[in-house]
Amino acid sequence: MDCRFVDDLQTNQEKINNFLCLGSGYVGVLTMTVFASQYKNKKFIINDKFKNVIDKWNNSGKILRKSIENINKDDVQSNLPIVEKNFHNLFSNVFNENLFFKNFYSDEEILATDVVFVCVNTPSLYSNKIKTNISIEQIELEIKRGIEHDMRNVFDCLEELCERILQSKNLLSIFKERIIIQKSTVPIETLKLIKDKIFKFFKNNRTRILEIIDAKNSHLLEYFEYDHKIFEYVSKYFKLVNIPEFLAEGSAINNLLCPDRVLLGYIKDDKESYRASLIIKSIYEKWIDKEKIILLDSTSSEMTKIVSNAFLAQRISSINSITGICELYGADINILSQTVGMDSRIGKNYLKASMGFGGSCLKKDTLSLIFFLSSNNLVVEANYWTQVLVLNEFQRLRISEKIKNCSLKRNKTVTIFGLSFKGDTNDVRGSNSIFLISYLLNHNVQIKLYDPLVTKYELENELKMYDNDESQWVNMTYCDFYLDSLIDSSVLVFCNNHSYFNNFEMEKLYLKMNDDACLFDLYDIFCLENMKKIGFKVFKLGVNDLNPNNFINI
Ligand code: UGA
Repeated sequence: MDCRFVDDLQTNQEKINNFLCLGSGYVGVLTMTVFASQYKNKKFIINDKFKNVIDKWNNSGKILRKSIENINKDDVQSNLPIVEKNFHNLFSNVFNENLFFKNFYSDEEILATDVVFVCVNTPSLYSNKIKTNISIEQIELEIKRGIEHDMRNVFDCLEELCERILQSKNLLSIFKERIIIQKSTVPIETLKLIKDKIFKFFKNNRTRILEIIDAKNSHLLEYFEYDHKIFEYVSKYFKLVNIPEFLAEGSAINNLLCPDRVLLGYIKDDKESYRASLIIKSIYEKWIDKEKIILLDSTSSEMTKIVSNAFLAQRISSINSITGICELYGADINILSQTVGMDSRIGKNYLKASMGFGGSCLKKDTLSLIFFLSSNNLVVEANYWTQVLVLNEFQRLRISEKIKNCSLKRNKTVTIFGLSFKGDTNDVRGSNSIFLISYLLNHNVQIKLYDPLVTKYELENELKMYDNDESQWVNMTYCDFYLDSLIDSSVLVFCNNHSYFNNFEMEKLYLKMNDDACLFDLYDIFCLENMKKIGFKVFKLGVNDLNPNNFINI
């Protein structure tokens, strides 16, 4: 019997050589890339149930490696599925060296695996279309109930793993100690629920296991005689740890290399889970300070993840709630962000006014928090967090309406630059631009779109989630060149802050547009005075110079 785990943690850490990651999304790929570059002598396999996703990684990875061998590294254009700062080089050094992408993991690979990372996505359980044609009161009613995370991917991939272990009919695999790291964002108490599900799986399959155990290994039969013994089996051979992910797109590699903290959540009163988190701690200690790695009970670690995102959302909504009054009185929200944030008790981060927070996480996790609170009858608390999301939707609607009115007044096209949810990524999930596009399509406004990173396919795919139908898309033109998108346009909206936009020669853009050109600089990219000198009428969030001749008259 392969009894790999002994009490000496150092020995254990060294004996951990094979990692399997379930899920080839953002978190899985970036986390494994960083682990693989820290541990060149260990093997990392990323698995995904979608073959096309794995093929995409393998094809683009091979092209990348080939071109690096032939050309100067700096000339290489990456077509990797993820656009992320500092990822490209790190990835090219480990891809097909000690990091592999597979659509299928073999019995041998299951047997070899010491650590399984669960990095599958847990979207909101919400199948309705996202509405842009809706009043704020209706939005509030929808938010109030909150929305659960959809946990099916987490449970399904673990059930498949258990099933594959049994199907191999290999006792070494069935009695192999593994650490299962749950990294997907989940509701509280999930780690305990996972343990219970694995327990139920083996309880329901007791007879299959008894048939596999031969006379030579009859001492193993005791594990499956009683329920409490099966529970012990699960604790020992599926050591569960929750490690919430705090990486943000754009800074993800840096977040993984120099995190503010790493939380290792173990199941209370489960010594195997606790022991596993100590082993994982020693793995992280190779590149992260001991003091930043915190061991805590899994309920607290799961809760920390959701509450952290809700707090980030709350700060953005707080600053955004001041933009309207700044526009009325001529105060400047950017100055306010700076001066308020200079108070060290408040801090400067997440105080940048915007059209609202986008992305797939802040809203989803705040909705999940509201769901917990509402389902536990904590009404006042649920209402408090509801307002954070109401404010976000309100801000999106408020700005969308301004842009619509501005364009209808001029009866001309609106041009939108920037389609992803924030700068320097191609991720369009929850993006303000897509919300704005949907809103404008619902009001029959002609739009032209440009983004240096987002493809037409990605745009249309995301737009299908919104409350307009495809026949309305005739009013929308995706342009490959930004200057083309300005022809016949009198409203230009910068809807995210790709660093690419910083180099735009705005005079050129102005000349391409119709007279009376209006600029909505929603991310404070350009100097107001310079834009006015060029001739633009300018709208900046939370800023108003109170001179109607200079400002967009909406
Ligand atoms: C967020 C969290 O920041 C991460 O810590 C977390 O790990 C991640 O969710 C997750 O749960 O996976 P991310 O969604 O990548 O990361 O993006 P953020 O940088 O937090 O930005 C979210 C949105 O807020 C963007 O639309 C951004 O433009 C907006 N934002 C951010 C503002 O409007 N103002 C700010 O001051 C900061």
